[in-house]
Amino acid sequence: MISNPIDARATAVTRARYQRLSRTYDWMEALSERRIRPWRQKLWSTVRGPHVLEVGVGTGKNLPFWPGDMCITAIDLTPGMLERAQQRATQLKLKADLRLGDVQTLDLLDASFDSAVATFVFCSVPDPILGLRELKRVVKPGGQIVLLEHMRSPNETVGRIMDVLNPLIVRIMGANVNRRTVENVQRAGLNIERVEDLGMGGIVKLVVAWV
Ligand SMILES: C[S@@+](CC[C@H](N)C(=O)[O-])C[C@H]1O[C@@H](n2cnc3c(N)ncnc32)[C@H](O)[C@@H]1O
Repeated sequence: MISNPIDARATAVTRARYQRLSRTYDWMEALSERRIRPWRQKLWSTVRGPHVLEVGVGTGKNLPFWPGDMCITAIDLTPGMLERAQQRATQLKLKADLRLGDVQTLDLLDASFDSAVATFVFCSVPDPILGLRELKRVVKPGGQIVLLEHMRSPNETVGRIMDVLNPLIVRIMGANVNRRTVENVQRAGLNIERVEDLGMGGIVKLVVAWV
């Protein structure tokens, strides 16, 4: 398989955006987090361990849902986000293995995890297919990839509005609103087990795939 090279500039821009957002991220997301929390719970009840990789851990909003019997490694591109995650881990008295890293080029061994998880990450990763291929590499054959993501609306009119607004939203929030993430999962060579619509007119989905 021929891999694209990593776009170092786009990756640096993404890191700089999240570094800027890291101080206010939890506060900005507080209202929507009430709605998101049950989706996080649902995702973690799907994940199979014991060795799990969470990518784009951000400020650690999934940490309260990490199953106590799993051995979880978590990475993020942005130092400021990871610092918040470390603070949250300390508050929760969790011994978390939190590392700086880029999902597009993971410094991890092939087939070293039973599952990989990401929540609202592949909207921001500069090359999502490269990142998803890396998950395919580090998860064991037969292992799971579980994603909670917002994506382009299945309603074409809404989808077109998202296309128009996307450049502005990326600048402000760091996230693309018009990614076709289910298609990207397939293009990365992963097998879809199920896709569940969670809300917002088919924009938020739980995607369970396997290697
Ligand atoms: C919208 S936030 C989501 C954070 C968290 N997963 C959550 O559910 O709240 C996206 C996160 O993905 C991280 N990210 C973006 N590109 C990445 C990459 N290439 N590798 C690892 N993390 C990345 C950002 O630094 C940011 O923390």
